[in-house]
Amino acid sequence: MKAAVVGAGLMGTIHAVNLSKMPEASIKWIVDRDKTRGGKLAKAIGARWSPSIDDVIKDAETELVIHAIPTPFRLPFIKKYMAAGKHIFCEKPLASNLKEAQAIRDAARNYKPVFMAGHVVRFFWEYAHARETILSGGIGKAGIVRLSRCCGKPASFDKKDNWYLDYKRSGGVFLDLAIHDLDWLLWTFGAAARVFGQNLGSKGIAEDYGLGIIKFKNGVLAHVEASWAEPDGSFLTGFEASGTEGMLEYDMRDAATLTFAEKKKAAGSASGTIVPESPSSESPYQKEMRHFIQCVQEGAKPLAGAADAFNAARLAFALMESARTNKAIEL
Ligand SMILES: NC(=O)c1ccc[n+]([C@@H]2O[C@H](COP(=O)([O-])OP(=O)(O)OC[C@H]3O[C@@H](n4cnc5c(N)ncnc54)[C@H](O)[C@@H]3O)[C@@H](O)[C@H]2O)c1
Repeated sequence: MKAAVVGAGLMGTIHAVNLSKMPEASIKWIVDRDKTRGGKLAKAIGARWSPSIDDVIKDAETELVIHAIPTPFRLPFIKKYMAAGKHIFCEKPLASNLKEAQAIRDAARNYKPVFMAGHVVRFFWEYAHARETILSGGIGKAGIVRLSRCCGKPASFDKKDNWYLDYKRSGGVFLDLAIHDLDWLLWTFGAAARVFGQNLGSKGIAEDYGLGIIKFKNGVLAHVEASWAEPDGSFLTGFEASGTEGMLEYDMRDAATLTFAEKKKAAGSASGTIVPESPSSESPYQKEMRHFIQCVQEGAKPLAGAADAFNAARLAFALMESARTNKAIEL
């Protein structure tokens, strides 16, 4: 299967590298408006560079598109991919405003090829496992959940235009960062009823910090913290879920790696040399790409589709609206 990666920034590069390791797919196009960045990535993985998606649209051989350019560039691109019948992997958030997010969700509703959204936290085993534990009654009836995602000020690969720090374009921490936790909450607890949020981005401070309180229809109360105000280079995530029968806790700083050396593998190895293995050796981004390819091959529904991405974005927009108006928002 031939693929195009649209965007040669942070995410486009991650997806291109992961996809290039998969024998089922080969990347034919790297699209980026910047020739230096696009050309460099294309050369590194043996693909062609193009400044425009038109080359991809015209190329019937290219069936898959990985859309990884900044959030304000979504709807017109997605419409063109859909008109050409491509399988689409679209980075989160679904769009930078509610109207476009709605339009993409609606267009994807009866779209036959795969439309997958980049809600990668569903591929982090800690989050997936916590969800399974909660849904199987491991903590009894869930009551309060706290999630935190804090990092330094984000930077675009485009050194001349750090669009992340423009609240109108990125949506600040609620839309760009906390959306991962919002998606996990919706995936785990179902629809939300009411939100209240406060953040610095809505007050014109680029190093955004936000706190959100979300009441779910099933009664769960969630507290979400997201920050771009940490020291540069740091990225910390964690959560705590309390229920009537127990509590689940995760702090990425406590995570220990597990290595697995299997005697029978060493004995059967031709060279006698073994490479280290670990259950965590596959990154969640690699798992995510593998899942996308598998959905395309099997015509299966992806773990996160356009409707899921819309729901997460809608929750983020409600938190932004709450922060702007200083009022709780009913959903
Ligand atoms: N899933 C995740 O964990 C995760 C992490 C970071 C970013 N993201 C999302 O991925 C998307 C891309 O983020 P990034 O950090 O890779 O951005 P980036 O700024 O690092 O790179 C964007 C690239 O797109 C190119 N570009 C911009 N507009 C273009 C256009 N109209 N046509 C062609 N090329 C264009 C730029 O030249 C740049 O190379 C964003 O929506 C972001 O929210 C997701």
